[in-house]
Amino acid sequence: MNQTIRWVLLPAFLCLISCTSETTVADTPQPTAKVTSSIESKEGKKLFLQHCASCHNMNMVDDMTGPALYKVTERWSNKEDLIHFIQNPQELINNNHERAVKIAALWPSEMTAFPQLDSVAIEAILAFVDEKGAKNK
Ligand code: HEC
Repeated sequence: MNQTIRWVLLPAFLCLISCTSETTVADTPQPTAKVTSSIESKEGKKLFLQHCASCHNMNMVDDMTGPALYKVTERWSNKEDLIHFIQNPQELINNNHERAVKIAALWPSEMTAFPQLDSVAIEAILAFVDEKGAKNK
């Protein structure tokens, strides 16, 4: 009797293990990507509150002292220029960068420079801007 149960349970157990591990492997990329982006936007939220929220509306879709930032990456043809602008707006304006000159002309006040923020920090802020703006649009 005991033997019979063993021979019935063993294959079932092996199948369970192999099925489970297959599912885990197949599902791995997606949750990892989600976790990464949520860590990124969480860090971005912290940085935004610390550096940007005094002038840019936290809902990302209404203007304040500075313009609403939702979809700002689409308004800049080049991500590197956008990052550079956040690090040093005046430099791009002085270099006659088309978008920088245009946005500066529309806004009477000047944006602070953030040379202390590296591109990883700024990408995190931009990830938060997109996530937050998509919820409020
Ligand atoms: C002192 C107020 C102030 C602070 C603080 C500030 N900004 Fe700005 N921001 C502005 C103003 C005003 C403009 C309009 C352009 C100009 O006048 O320089 C602007 C423009 C921008 C633009 C260009 C928008 C567009 O449509 O092209 C981006 C991107 C931006 N800010 C991101 C940030 C980020 C990210 C932070 C925080 C790290 C930040 N700003 C902090 C005032 C501010």
